[in-house]
Amino acid sequence: MLKIRGLEAWYGASHVLQKIDLDVARGEIVCLIGRNGAGKTTTLKSVAGLIDKVGGSVEFEGEELLGLPAHVRFHRGLAYVPEERRIVPGLDVRENLRLGLIASPLKKRETQAIREASMIFPRLAERITQSAITLSGGEQQMLAIARALISQPKLIMLDEPSEGIMPVLVDEMFELFGKLKSQGATILLVEQNVELALAIADRAYIIDQGAIVHHATAAALLADAEIQEKYCAV
Ligand SMILES: Nc1ncnc2c1ncn2[C@@H]1O[C@H](COP(=O)(O)OP(=O)(O)OP(=O)(O)O)[C@@H](O)[C@H]1O
Ligand SMILES: [Mg+2]
Repeated sequence: MLKIRGLEAWYGASHVLQKIDLDVARGEIVCLIGRNGAGKTTTLKSVAGLIDKVGGSVEFEGEELLGLPAHVRFHRGLAYVPEERRIVPGLDVRENLRLGLIASPLKKRETQAIREASMIFPRLAERITQSAITLSGGEQQMLAIARALISQPKLIMLDEPSEGIMPVLVDEMFELFGKLKSQGATILLVEQNVELALAIADRAYIIDQGAIVHHATAAALLADAEIQEKYCAV
């Protein structure tokens, strides 16, 4: 579904991604793991269309994405939940969720879709008319995830979804990801909580200083204490 070949990215003169190769097949959860500053967010942003200076190739369902604006990629079914939650602070929860429907092929009535999305996280349903800026950090993260899911994307990219969320809700969130997978969702996940992420992932790539240094099945990585210690310690 997603085929990344020789992906490079620059911030000005700084060469941040060095020929990344990475695949995500339909129905897979693939995890991208690495230390702070390794290039995880830059990789997701490059796929989403949010980095100006990139090279190589990113194919999504057989079509080249590089060069296309971010909104076109979104309309093709690629959802991205950034590390810095991009909720719209001036809108309430319902209005933020409605934004996610812009790219939706859903025939379902809007109110029903919003209701279902808010029910993913009951805390959101309780706060449906609350201004998004007054939500707590964790609630904003839930809103960002629900808004990405409401469009029923073909591929969802999540950048550290558990960050700032209390452990009990993190467990619920990962259960949700597992459930989405069983319903056929495809996920590219960046997560510092490596054990939790590998427990639901099929495969994982390890990135270090902008290059993929290792890839393996999630089960193999979970059992590999040496690799984990070398590349996964925060
Ligand atoms: N806008 C920017 N301008 C210049 N350099 C940047 C910019 N954004 C990121 N970088 C640099 O690019 C490198 C990769 O950053 P990136 O955000 O992709 O890392 P990351 O793996 O997501 O790290 P973290 O785990 O801390 O989120 C880092 O060295 C970072 O300092
Ligand atoms: Mg990051």
